[in-house]
Formats: sequence, C-alpha cells, structure tokens
Amino acid sequence: MEPIVIKDLVKDFGGFRAVDNLTLTVRDGTFVGFLGPNGAGKTTTIKILTNMLRATSGSVYLNSVDIVENPKEAMSNLGAVVETPEFYQYLTPNETLAYLGELRGMSAESISSRSAEVLETVKMSGWADQRIGKFSKGMKQRIAIAQAILHHPSIIILDEPTSGLDPRGMAEVREILSGLKSEKYTIFMSSHLLSEVQEVCDEVVLIDHGKILRSGSVDNLLGSINIHRIEARTLQQIDNAWLNNISKIEGIEELRASGPASFVFTLKGGDREQAIMLRSLQSMGLDIVSFKRSGIALENLYLSMIKESR
Ligand SMILES: Nc1ncnc2c1ncn2[C@@H]1O[C@H](COP(=O)(O)OP(=O)(O)OP(=O)(O)O)[C@@H](O)[C@H]1O
Ligand SMILES: [Mg+2]
Repeated sequence: MEPIVIKDLVKDFGGFRAVDNLTLTVRDGTFVGFLGPNGAGKTTTIKILTNMLRATSGSVYLNSVDIVENPKEAMSNLGAVVETPEFYQYLTPNETLAYLGELRGMSAESISSRSAEVLETVKMSGWADQRIGKFSKGMKQRIAIAQAILHHPSIIILDEPTSGLDPRGMAEVREILSGLKSEKYTIFMSSHLLSEVQEVCDEVVLIDHGKILRSGSVDNLLGSINIHRIEARTLQQIDNAWLNNISKIEGIEELRASGPASFVFTLKGGDREQAIMLRSLQSMGLDIVSFKRSGIALENLYLSMIKESR
C-alpha cells in the first residue's frame, strides 16, 4: 500500500493555477523532499494533502483512503506540521499534547505514555511542564513535531519545518527528522533548500509553477549533476598572484579565495576530471592539504534547473 498517492492534482486560485496536474506516489518508509522555490506551490499542495484546502480537481489517497471521500479515516494516519504552529501560550507541552490527544480520540493512558515518548523524541522532556509562551521558535517547532507524531501516524507531512529558525535550530530540527526516518515513518517534507533535502531525504521531487520538474532518489539527482564546486586548502597563503596562476588552469571556473590558505572553484566533470585537476594544482607547486567537493554548485544547478523551466 502506497502511503501517499496524488493523481492529476490541480488547484486554481481565480484564474491562477498554483498546482498544475501534479501526479506523484510516495513509497512506504521513504523520506521525500518536496523541493521548490518561493511560490512553486509547495504549501498549496501540502494544504490539500492535509485537508486544509480543497483541490480544484484531481485526487489524493493516504494509505489508499481518498481524503475527500473519507477525510476522517485518511487523516487518522497522518501527522502534520504546516506553517508556524500557534500553541496556547499559557499551556505546557504536556497540557497541549493531552488536549490534542483527546481531540484525536486517544485514551488518557496512551496520551500520557505517548506524550513522554514524543517529548523524548524531540528532546523536550526537560520542558514538559513549562509554559510554551516562553519557548524559542525552535523549541515550539519541536513541540509541533511532537504533536504531529503523538497519535502514532504512519505518515508525516511537514511544510518547511526549518524555516525561520537560526542555524542551530535548523540543525536540531533536521537531526530530529533524521531520527524519525529510522522509526519507519513515511515523511513528506517541503523545503526550498537543496542542501537540506540532500542532508535528510532519500528522494526528491523538484517542483516549480505547480509542476514536477524532476523526481527520483537524491543520489540519482546528484549523480546526474556533472558540475561540482570544489574547495582546496593549501599550506601556502593564497594571494592574488596565486589566484591569477590558478585561474589559468584549463577547467577552473568561478575561482575565488575562501580563506587565507584556501580557495574554491567550479569544475565540470566527475572523479576523473577532479583527479587531473588535483595533479595540475600540485604541479604548480601548491601543497594541497585537502581537496573536496562542497555543496554550493548544487544550489547553482538547482537554480539553473528552475531557470530553464521558466
Ligand atoms: N489563497 C491564495 N489566493 C491566491 N493565490 C494564492 C493563494 N495561496 C497561494 N497562492 C499563490 O499560489 C502560488 C503557490 O503558492 P504556495 O504558497 O503554494 O507556494 P510555496 O511553494 O509554498 O512558496 P513558499 O516557498 O514561498 O512558501 C503562489 O504564486 C501564490 O501567490
Ligand atoms: Mg510555502
């Protein structure tokens, strides 16, 4: 049984088509990144999947249950985090989870045992009885994840769960999501950051203008990308004279210093081209301490794929 099946989904806002014939299947136990730039249609799609918005046409099945025909049953297996959650500021996480668990028809016992479990999962056990009002945005987001998994759904849908968080908050949320992956949940998460999808997801669906541009495993998508951003660290200080010389090597593009003794550049090709480049740099007399791919070219490629589609 496929956890999420979307067929020919369309959403029009007046004359504007925000979701354009989207068809997509999410397989059991996968962590799918729903990647796209601002305005791509991510939130609109996710609101339809979570029954917050009605589609213009098309259908959505969660565990084979049609969300329009049978919303209650379809939603019973779903946990969601959509938009920055607004909790009652004067309630504690325990009180909030008790209230939400009751709404979802959970028994008092399962609420209390499960609350302890989910707060542990999101590393908020120590805050279970503190008022949410004084929590940071990152802590509130972790509570949002806790409530999403409270009733033990098999599917979790999240709309840009790290948006608006500082780097540490982002890292904490990503770590929790990675942990959920190993707990057999099927996860569908939107993001506009390729690096984030690359870090936590197994599969990626790239969308823009409400249409799918590419989809497949993250490894395949990245493997198909034959351009890399490379960072080299050297024993020498990299001054303008060095930069000037390095820039003359064939194949080096977008070269710049990235520190007193390091530089980055873009290189077309794969392992072979990389090995040849390393040799060329060393033959100039550079003592290379490290030489590795950095993620930035991926962002460039992602932008160029989006640009191509416009
Ligand atoms: N209620 C609405 N009425 C009219 N247009 C809307 C409405 N909601 C969304 N749109 C439009 O639909 C398009 C898709 O919006 P959506 O919020 O789904 O994008 P998104 O991918 O979530 O973007 P972001 O990264 O900014 O969150 C946008 O052009 C947006 O302006
Ligand atoms: Mg959005």
